[in-house]
Amino acid sequence: MCGIVGYIGPREAMGVVVSGLQRLEYRGYDSAGIAVYDAAAGLQLRRSVGKLQGLVTRLQQEPASGQLGIGHTRWATHGDVTEQNAHPHRDASGAIVVIQNGIVENYLELKTRLINLGIPFVSQTDTEVIAHLVGLYYAEEGALEPALRRALAELRGGNAIVALCAHEPERIVAARLGNAGGVVIGIGQDESFVASDVPAILDHTRDLIFLEDRELAVITREGATITTLAGERVQRAPVTIPWDPIAAARGDFTHFMEKEIHEQPRALMDALRGRIDQERGLVHLEDLRLDDAALRKLDRIYATACGTAWHAGLVAKFMIEQLARVRVEVDYASEFRYRDPVLGADALLMAFTQSGETVDTLAAMEEARAQGVPSIAIVNAIGSQAARVADGGPLYLHAGPEIGVASTKAFTSMLMVAYLFALRLAQARGTLSPSQIGTHLQALVELPSKAARLIEQAAPRCRDLAERYHRVGDALFLGRQVNYPIALEGALKLKEISYIHAEGYPAGEMKHGPIALIDEEMPVICIAPRDPIYPKMISNVEQVRARRGQVIAIGHEGDELLAAKAHHVITVPATLPLLQPVLNVIPLQLFAYYVALRRGCDVDQPRNLAKSVTVE
Ligand code: G6P
Repeated sequence: MCGIVGYIGPREAMGVVVSGLQRLEYRGYDSAGIAVYDAAAGLQLRRSVGKLQGLVTRLQQEPASGQLGIGHTRWATHGDVTEQNAHPHRDASGAIVVIQNGIVENYLELKTRLINLGIPFVSQTDTEVIAHLVGLYYAEEGALEPALRRALAELRGGNAIVALCAHEPERIVAARLGNAGGVVIGIGQDESFVASDVPAILDHTRDLIFLEDRELAVITREGATITTLAGERVQRAPVTIPWDPIAAARGDFTHFMEKEIHEQPRALMDALRGRIDQERGLVHLEDLRLDDAALRKLDRIYATACGTAWHAGLVAKFMIEQLARVRVEVDYASEFRYRDPVLGADALLMAFTQSGETVDTLAAMEEARAQGVPSIAIVNAIGSQAARVADGGPLYLHAGPEIGVASTKAFTSMLMVAYLFALRLAQARGTLSPSQIGTHLQALVELPSKAARLIEQAAPRCRDLAERYHRVGDALFLGRQVNYPIALEGALKLKEISYIHAEGYPAGEMKHGPIALIDEEMPVICIAPRDPIYPKMISNVEQVRARRGQVIAIGHEGDELLAAKAHHVITVPATLPLLQPVLNVIPLQLFAYYVALRRGCDVDQPRNLAKSVTVE
C-alpha cells in the first residue's frame, strides 16, 4: 500500500518522481523519501516524516539533482513513523538503495543472519533487510540484477521492490513477488518510468508493461527487459491505457471524496454503457467470458472482498439470490483465505475490489483457483492484478480513478455491476423473462438522474445535520434486509473519516444489545424506504424514540408517516427495492463527509488508513 515511483531519462528525476508520488499519496502518508543519482553528486537521499509536502519542503531547501531516481510514500508496517524508517533504505556500502511495498514475512530471521555477519542496521524496517541482502550478493556478483535475484529467492511474503545502484547509473531494477503490490513500467521516448500504480506515470506515457508475480525488470532509458526470477526471458509488449489524467485531478471540489460523491451519476451511467439492450430485455456482459451453459450450471457463488467492497458483496447476495435464485455466501477475504473453505463443484468466486490490488482479496481468488473454482472480478482499476487473474471478467466498473481513501463512487458502481450480473444470470437461467428484465433495466437507466437529483437535494440537508451532530461521540446506523449492508457502510464511512465511533446493525437485532447504548445524545440513522419490510422498520424507529434516541431517517419522498416519527428525514427517490441501496447510501456518504469536514478532519487521507491495502 505504499507508493513507489522511479524514473530514468533525460529529465531531472526529482520533479518526475515527486509529481508521481503526489498522485499516489493516498496509498500511504506516514513518510516519504527519494534517492537521486548524479555522477558528480553521487547518491542523494532525502527523507521526511509525514505527508509528501514535508519532503517537498525539504527538497526546496536541499534539492537532489540527477536523471535517475526512485521515491516512496510509506504506510508503516514494521517500525515507527520516523525518518530512519522512511524509504529508500541503503545497503551497508551505501551504493545500493531499495524501496519496497509489501511485507518481508521472514525479515527477522534474515535480519539476525545479516547482523551475525556484522552488518549494522539503522532502521526497524523489513525493507532494510532487502537492501543489505542485495548488498551482500552484490559484493559477490558485481552486478545489481543477479544480486537482487539472489536476494529475492530468500524473501517470503508479497513484495514490490525497486532498487538502484550508484555503480550502475544506467538502470533501475524492479521486481514483484506475490500479490502484495503491483509494478507497472511506463515506456516513453528515451525515458522510462516505474510505479506501484498507473496514475503515477500517466502524465508521461500511456504505454505500460505490468510485471507479473515472480518477475524482474531491468529498466533503462530505452525500455525494459523482463525475466522470470528463474532467469527466463519474458516477451511482453506494452499495453496502452485510455485513462484521462485530468479525471484524476480534484477539479473544483474541496476534496476528492466530495468530487467522487458528485461523480456518482456519471459513474452509474458508465457502468451501464454498452451492457444493456432495453428493447429486447437483454444484458450483455461480453467481458464475463462465461457462457449461458456455464451460468446455468452454477450451484453457488462466493462473494468475497474487504471493507466497503465487502458491503457491496452483501448487497449483491440479495440481488443474485432474489433475481437469479442462486445461493450466495459472502466472506471477508481475509477470513475466506484461511478458513479452509469447502467450495464444491459448480461454484464461482466473485471478487469485489476497487483497486484490484487488495492482497486478501487476491489471495481469496487464489484459494478458489486452487480448489478448481473459477473467479470473476468486479473491479475498477484497469489492468490491476485482480482484473488480470480473474478467469471470467474483469467486469470493470468504469468509475474512473477513485482517490479519496473512503470509497464512494466505486461502491455504488459495484452495486450497479452486481445488479447487471444478477440480471445476466437470471437471463441465462430463465428466472426472469425478457420483459421482466426490461423492467429492471428501465429502473437501472433511471438511477443516474435520480442520484443526481438526490445529491443536489441531500447535500445542504446533510450539511445542516452535520452542523447539529458533529460533536457526538457515537452513532448507530440501522437497516433491514438489503439495507442492512447500507447501515454498515454508513457507519464505516462516518468512522473512517470523522473518527466518531459508529456501528451498523440489522434493525431487528437492535433490541438484543445496541438498544442499551441509546440515550438522548445518540443519533440513530434509520434507513426506512417503503419496501416490504417497512412496517417492521417503523416499529424499530418507535423503539429508538421510546429510548429518547435522535432519529435521522432515510426514507422515500412524500412519506409522511416517517416524517412524523423521526426527528429528521432525508428523502431519497424511490426505485426498485433491490436498487434502493444505491440511492440510500448517498446521503450517508454526504453526512459522513460534512461531519468530517466540520470536525476539521483530513477527509481524503484519514489517519492510519490507506487506499489499497497490499499487506495482510
Ligand atoms: C481499504 C480502503 C477501503 C476499501 C478496502 C478494500 O480499506 O480504505 O475504502 O473498501 O480497502 O479495497 P478494494 O480496493 O479491494 O476495494
